Amino acid sequence: MATERTLSIIKPDATKRNLTGKINAKFEDAGLRIIAQKRIQLTKAQAGKFYEVHAERPFYDELCEFMASAPVVVQVLEGDNAIAKNRDVMGATNPADAAPGTVRAEFAESVGENSVHGSDAPETAAVEIAYFFSGLELVG
Ligand code: CMP
Repeated sequence: MATERTLSIIKPDATKRNLTGKINAKFEDAGLRIIAQKRIQLTKAQAGKFYEVHAERPFYDELCEFMASAPVVVQVLEGDNAIAKNRDVMGATNPADAAPGTVRAEFAESVGENSVHGSDAPETAAVEIAYFFSGLELVG
């Protein structure tokens, strides 16, 4: 299995409820290593650039407002098959569909306020990691 890196975001609904440690424990319990992490406050424009692939979706404006509404924790997770593994740990986008024990099943409030983001493919992971971190900040 290939060692991969993926970009993870702990979203405002979760940072507001002080869930960073509980969510990080799920990543670490699954064998993912947090090799970079910082808590930042995004502007709506910065959130908009990150999610520009969704610019035509009806929920785009609401998504950008939400991501700028409180601090987020951006992080790089590393491990075997990290991209798929992280998506398993997160659970389905809509918490109503998320498997028991996943982050979204336990913590997410709605499809929009769904506690975490994770990259969906190696190409997007590389772009998303570079959006928030320099190479010097990744300490594997
Ligand atoms: P994420 O994995 O960060 O990628 C895009 C985000 O858009 C997604 O999680 C959700 O938070 C959000 N999203 C997806 N579908 C909807 C929707 N129907 N309404 C509001 N937000 C949504």
